[in-house]
Amino acid sequence: MRKILILAALVCLTFAQNVQECPTDGRLMKCVVQQQPVCGIRSLTNGKQIKETFDNYCIACSIGKVEYTVEGKCESYPAEAKFCSPAQSQALACTREYDPHCGYFNKTVQCLVPPCAIEQSNRCTTCSTENVLYTVRGNCRN
Ligand SMILES: *[C@@H]1O[C@H](CO)[C@@H](O)[C@H](O)[C@H]1NC(C)=O
Repeated sequence: MRKILILAALVCLTFAQNVQECPTDGRLMKCVVQQQPVCGIRSLTNGKQIKETFDNYCIACSIGKVEYTVEGKCESYPAEAKFCSPAQSQALACTREYDPHCGYFNKTVQCLVPPCAIEQSNRCTTCSTENVLYTVRGNCRN
């Protein structure tokens, strides 16, 4: 029994990524009580995001309202952080309007001197920059 639990935990860890989309049938997921907090994100039509912390990815997705999750509690990110959805990260084309955003990198980018950020001309170009996890509107402050 114990071995199975350890194996399950290992599998979960392997699948744990920074950003994970919820399956469309997430409500049917069978969840275990496991503490591996994630921040669940839902986008509103006005562009705002609702962020709520859940015990794990499965529980976040099983309520049926979360689009995707990000590793860690919501409170571990700045309150003004707007996460890039998987679709936004993969955007192939962006409009050219000038509305600068500061993009903060995921853990792939090793950073010695914070903030680990990159400034782009608008949110679309910022999110589609490789390894950007979330954006904050405006210029990057150093
Ligand atoms: C960081 O983001 C890139 C996509 O921009 C992704 O391929 C990579 O897996 C992410 N790294 C982590 C640690 O999640």
